[in-house]
Amino acid sequence: MSNRTFTMIKPDAVKAGNIGNILQMINAGGFRIVAMKYLSLSKQQAEKFYEVHAARPFYGELTEFMSSGPIVAAILEKENAVADFRTLIGATNPAQAAEGTIRKKYAASIGENAVHGSDSDENAEIEGNFFFSGLERA
Ligand code: CMP
Repeated sequence: MSNRTFTMIKPDAVKAGNIGNILQMINAGGFRIVAMKYLSLSKQQAEKFYEVHAARPFYGELTEFMSSGPIVAAILEKENAVADFRTLIGATNPAQAAEGTIRKKYAASIGENAVHGSDSDENAEIEGNFFFSGLERA
């Protein structure tokens, strides 16, 4: 079990002015921010990040959306980080997300679902490396 996960605050939540609210929930959930940046992904960069989903029917929509505006990318630290963060954000589809979760509060749809959270320790490492150099996540 690793103690780090990776997250993005997605373009819908940034546009809606929810960066502060979401970071507050992340801190209140006991996560420490190890590294963080505010940036926009190009379509090509979004395609690269989500390439594991390339065969999915929603890949075009997903990468279009993720490159539609600025995001916040961050590496988070906590014991049992991957599983605990997925609990904090709630189900991918906000209609199924539990009360009190980030997606229940701030997500509008399965596509525009406010936040990303890594689904495994291995992907947390790969995704963190996509955005941050070794120097940036000391
Ligand atoms: P995320 O955790 O960032 O990882 C993959 C993303 O694909 C997921 O969040 C959703 O936003 C998106 N996604 C999953 N299923 C669908 C779907 N049926 N339609 C549109 N987007 C989807």
